[in-house]
Amino acid sequence: MDDETSIRELICRVLVDDGYACDGAGDAEEGLSLLARERYECVLSDIHMPGIDGIEMLRRIRLTDQEVGVVMITGAPDMDSALEAMRLGAHDHLSKPLNLSHLTLTVERAVEKKRLVEENLEYQRNLESMVQERTKQLHEANQELRRLFLSSIKALAQALEAKDEYTQGHSARVAEESVKIARYLSLADAEIENIWLAGFLHDIGKIGIRESVLNKPGKLDAAEWEIVQQHPVLAEKILAPIEELAEVIQIVRHHHERFDGSGYPDSLAASDIPLGARILGVADAFDALTSRRPYRDALSTEEALTVLEDAAGTQFDAVIVRAFVSCLADDQIAALAGGSRRSLDPLQDASGIEFPLSNPFSFRPTDAS
Ligand SMILES: [Fe+2]
Ligand SMILES: [Fe+2]
Repeated sequence: MDDETSIRELICRVLVDDGYACDGAGDAEEGLSLLARERYECVLSDIHMPGIDGIEMLRRIRLTDQEVGVVMITGAPDMDSALEAMRLGAHDHLSKPLNLSHLTLTVERAVEKKRLVEENLEYQRNLESMVQERTKQLHEANQELRRLFLSSIKALAQALEAKDEYTQGHSARVAEESVKIARYLSLADAEIENIWLAGFLHDIGKIGIRESVLNKPGKLDAAEWEIVQQHPVLAEKILAPIEELAEVIQIVRHHHERFDGSGYPDSLAASDIPLGARILGVADAFDALTSRRPYRDALSTEEALTVLEDAAGTQFDAVIVRAFVSCLADDQIAALAGGSRRSLDPLQDASGIEFPLSNPFSFRPTDAS
């Protein structure tokens, strides 16, 4: 583009002689309308033109086209305009009077830069789609790992239930009630997940206890009771190789601690007991109390709550007991209203695994915490 017809025609002639197709425009408006209609490799434009000058024209070109090569033609002393043009995205500049031997070389360089810009943009676009694809693959692989992981947890829980006739469904119910309490206390999703897993695994250590003790129909003697009390520590040993369960293991190890410090295995008290373990302790005791024993019938919900409330502040964290009472009240209101309950399995959607949340009640005496 140049408002001087003689210069415009001279430039076009040189470029056509060197193998380029060339269109001339007498001002910026005409040039911009050519650019809107056709794709060009390179724009050569005078900076000083009547109407829209070269700088403004360049600004408008770059609003919609980052790739086309642009070479600005300046008067010899006008270096400021040349620098401004370069800042706005011109690839090069030529000074008047034009050195025709430089013209084609400068255009070639601008076209080459345009090609590099295009390649770079294409590379970035490919990179973005590659990253998206890899992220999707990683997500799918994680989902698969999670599914396998949860299958292993389920297999572990089932292994215990196959051995201990009194624990069928106990782990799942403890997990379910613990999640209710954790949600009531507005714990973070990750904590709720850990508590849910701990619920499933809390008695897994009983796998390491011989069946004559585990399935003894009557009350245990002192020696047998001591053996049963090993189960939180045995659980820790069984689960220790699974790094992902580090926090879950702490909940499992301490689910028989008592708020007053008289529990086992470490005689922890109050807030030294992990919150998840305090929650699990209440849910565990409630499930044991409301389950039938060989030597007694199951307690009613009201009777079991009385036992929990009486032990609030000694065996149990009073805050957790109050939360549990509120959860049960909410459940009763929801049941009366006939509303549908939200799934209590925080991982069920992701895993597609159905855990045994509603097996028949059947428990052994030693389970009462
Ligand atoms: Fe236990
Ligand atoms: Fe238990």
